[in-house]
Amino acid sequence: MSKKITLIGGGVLGVQIGLMCAYTGHDTTFWLRSEGSIGRTQPKIDLYSEWMLSDLEAAKQLIGNPMGKFLYAKGLIKDWDGITAEAIDDLIAAAKENFAKLIHIELDMAKAVEDADFVIEAMAEDPAQKIDIYKQLKDLLPEKTILLTNSSTLLPSMFAEYTGRPEKYCALHFANTIWKNNTGEVMGHPGTDPEVFKKTVELAVEINMIPLELHKEQPGYILNSMLVPFLSAAQGLWARGVADPATIDLTWELATGAPKGPFKILDIVGLETAYNINLMKPETKVEGSDSWMISKLLKEKIDKGETGVNAGKGFYDYK
Ligand SMILES: NC(=O)c1ccc[n+]([C@@H]2O[C@H](COP(=O)([O-])OP(=O)(O)OC[C@H]3O[C@@H](n4cnc5c(N)ncnc54)[C@H](O)[C@@H]3O)[C@@H](O)[C@H]2O)c1
Repeated sequence: MSKKITLIGGGVLGVQIGLMCAYTGHDTTFWLRSEGSIGRTQPKIDLYSEWMLSDLEAAKQLIGNPMGKFLYAKGLIKDWDGITAEAIDDLIAAAKENFAKLIHIELDMAKAVEDADFVIEAMAEDPAQKIDIYKQLKDLLPEKTILLTNSSTLLPSMFAEYTGRPEKYCALHFANTIWKNNTGEVMGHPGTDPEVFKKTVELAVEINMIPLELHKEQPGYILNSMLVPFLSAAQGLWARGVADPATIDLTWELATGAPKGPFKILDIVGLETAYNINLMKPETKVEGSDSWMISKLLKEKIDKGETGVNAGKGFYDYK
């Protein structure tokens, strides 16, 4: 059944989540904090919706190809077996209609969350700012609303007390490029109502994600418990001058058969997010340490506007 879903934050992930909500037929509102934020979010909505539509177009070429079932965008096409070009054309037409009709941008927080079934917090990875927003949301959310966080590195139990609805709060964590990499890690805190957890799993399915249930809180969930140390190790090699990003990527890709090395992944994640994650390590304050050097180098790139795929340049040039 169609739901009303509100996104808090219109950055890399907020936009992708919102687009998947609209794609699957849900009324989707982005709450943004200023007119300036609209100027930054609207181009992302345009860019990611284009990419989703072009991935649907590209899927038509994969029909009949034995590799097709591994390569198609799994969040966009629920069932690959027996798919036809006509069915994909129908999906493209429905997507265009849904994007035009179901996506709203709202600066007034009260209006944005009015009647929301789910509010998904996808704002910057900054604990103090998240707490501030939860405190603002607390008295505005309708009784029925389930509040979710997409935080990559922070635990729901750090924030539950500020939400005013700890039992209706848990994490639904997405992986970047969610229309292709459609994981939905569901993680409660000790006070999450099991019924709320179940409804969150159901929502993940309704927006074409594959729900992955965690039985207990784990910093970094399943994915980032593996990915963050891997990306840190790669950045350490770069920061110590052991090898350049392209060589590090090539080593990983050749040796493991993985399609992307760590710096290609970092460009997709976005260098600001990588920078914020690195800042949370205590050793980042220690001058000369690996993390300190990584921060310095990432900051130099961010200051030049080289923040990743979104900006057209990161470790690689996408223009
Ligand atoms: N980038 C990734 O690969 C990725 C993957 C999974 C989860 N996440 C998580 O998703 C969340 C958002 O990450 P992102 O990559 O989209 O970041 P981003 O920097 O692209 O976007 C952050 C958004 O938050 C908004 N924002 C920042 N401070 C705010 C405030 N005080 N009030 C209101 N809005 C505010 C910004 O305007 C922006 O729209 C983070 O918690 C991150 O850990 C990111």
